[in-house]
Amino acid sequence: DEDKYLLKFKGYNFERSLVDIDFLENLDNFEIRDDDVFIITYPKSGTIWTQQILSLIYYEGHRNRTELVETVDRSPFLEYNLHKIDYEKRPSPRLFASHIPYYLAPKGLKNKKAKVIYVYRNPKDVLTSYFHFSNLLITLEASNNIGDFMERFLDGKVVGSFWVDHIRGWYEHRHDFNILFMMYEEMKKDLRSSVLKISSFLEKELSEEDLDAIVNQAAFKNMKVDPQANYDSILQNEIGMRTNKGQFLRKGTVGDWKHHLTVEQNERFDRVFQRKMKDFPLKFIWE
Ligand code: PPS
Repeated sequence: DEDKYLLKFKGYNFERSLVDIDFLENLDNFEIRDDDVFIITYPKSGTIWTQQILSLIYYEGHRNRTELVETVDRSPFLEYNLHKIDYEKRPSPRLFASHIPYYLAPKGLKNKKAKVIYVYRNPKDVLTSYFHFSNLLITLEASNNIGDFMERFLDGKVVGSFWVDHIRGWYEHRHDFNILFMMYEEMKKDLRSSVLKISSFLEKELSEEDLDAIVNQAAFKNMKVDPQANYDSILQNEIGMRTNKGQFLRKGTVGDWKHHLTVEQNERFDRVFQRKMKDFPLKFIWE
């Protein structure tokens, strides 16, 4: 297919300008280490937030700010290797973020070698966040309005393909992985408990002081002004923006969709959601 923005590989849409096809071809055999950790998300569901939390858990120098390294260099995006990191030479433990669907996960992950943290968010807020993000980056297709974007989103014609397939796939195959599901809205409601939940899954003991530092530095308002965490320079200098008005860390709230969707758009979304998700056991927090 000749889409300018999307590259379809084995039925899944990747960001054409940032992905390396040879890497995808070999993903199945990508060497997994026991102590690797993968953050898996559908786009705009809390990836950078969880990258920040994990790097704060793992790197003392990040926690006490003696070592200033950008998020993408602490936990690179597996399939979008912006800085061409040689993953094989990387010291353990390696942290990765990724949007891949469950069926493209390397064999080693499916053998429960490494740990996976899957972060999900209510899809109306995902849609809202994604709409703004797509209009911000030159590497994504812009939309005139959120209604147009919603049609592409529900059609899976976006990076990450159809949201329903992504979350259902990972959830329904959860027994194949060593996986923890985290919900964006719960992280928002109680970040401290969420960090504890993550650190206990990772078998990382944290002192009260460490925990305080993590919760503090992973708070939205602090990440927004933290140059290592907020992606501003990466978006501007490495990816490219259509306007300099928007930011990666846009609002960070629950229920922003209410300010964007019309009653009709919301009803249309609900109908699709009902049809595709009614038997799905994970619950969502919408506002
Ligand atoms: S991406 O492009 O897929 O990696 O985007 P992702 O990081 O998954 O999602 C971006 C949204 O997450 C919000 N965000 C946060 N919310 C709450 N607290 C913290 N600390 C935080 N950090 C990032 C970010 O603002 C995007 O959501 P919106 O709704 O657009 O603000």
